[in-house]
Amino acid sequence: MNITIIGAGNVGGTLGRRWAHNGHQVTFGVRDPHSPKVQEVLRTAGANARATSVREAATAAECILLATPWTAVQDAIQSAGNLADKIVIDCTNPLAPGLRGLALGHTTSGGEQVARWAAGARVVKAFNMTGAKNMANPVYGAQQVTMCICGDDAEAKTTVGGLAAELGFEIIDTGSLTTARYPEPLAMLWIHLAYVQGLGPDFAFKVMRRP
Ligand SMILES: NC(=O)c1ccc[n+]([C@@H]2O[C@H](COP(=O)([O-])OP(=O)(O)OC[C@H]3O[C@@H](n4cnc5c(N)ncnc54)[C@H](OP(=O)(O)O)[C@@H]3O)[C@@H](O)[C@H]2O)c1
Repeated sequence: MNITIIGAGNVGGTLGRRWAHNGHQVTFGVRDPHSPKVQEVLRTAGANARATSVREAATAAECILLATPWTAVQDAIQSAGNLADKIVIDCTNPLAPGLRGLALGHTTSGGEQVARWAAGARVVKAFNMTGAKNMANPVYGAQQVTMCICGDDAEAKTTVGGLAAELGFEIIDTGSLTTARYPEPLAMLWIHLAYVQGLGPDFAFKVMRRP
């Protein structure tokens, strides 16, 4: 699949590298394709990855992962241009400054706000509720880290669920995009436990079922 990733940081770089290693054609849409950080991501991602401008990367894409800080998401979407009908994966969390919680929630979510900004896109919330280190390796012994996904387009969710499952996640579909209101606070809990309470990034949330 042709996957565009807007942002080549912790999450974009990690997921892009893994999908490129799995044989997908990965294009990073970035502000400076020649920056040392982007060049290092490309070097480790291998022959299936390239970098170009956000607009060019988005235009050619079937599926776009938005992987910028929340404060840059609207700008990144505007830079991408027309996203109608494209699958847009929203892994962002609408963080308030200073790890002090979420900037929005309860009656809306970052995922729903992304859908308003990216008019006509088939938005799927995914990859937001755990850390980048768990995206590099979501397998703990015999257990797979749980990844909730949600969205209003069934086909888009199947595609994104497949992209998450091939990396080793257990997928739980929580329903419509409005249910992004639930995993976003869960992401905040993960961040709080990891970086305020000192658990560090080597833990993850798992749905357990009674046999
Ligand atoms: N880190 C995690 O473990 C984690 C886990 C789950 C979800 N998330 C969410 O994922 C998102 C990305 O997090 P991250 O840790 O990967 O961030 P990061 O390492 O800081 O990387 C952010 C990337 O976004 C790019 N960017 C910034 N502003 C941009 C703009 N206006 N247009 C285009 N690109 C822009 C940056 O490029 P430049 O080099 O040009 O600045 C950089 O490549 C955040 O919303 C975060 O809440 C993070």
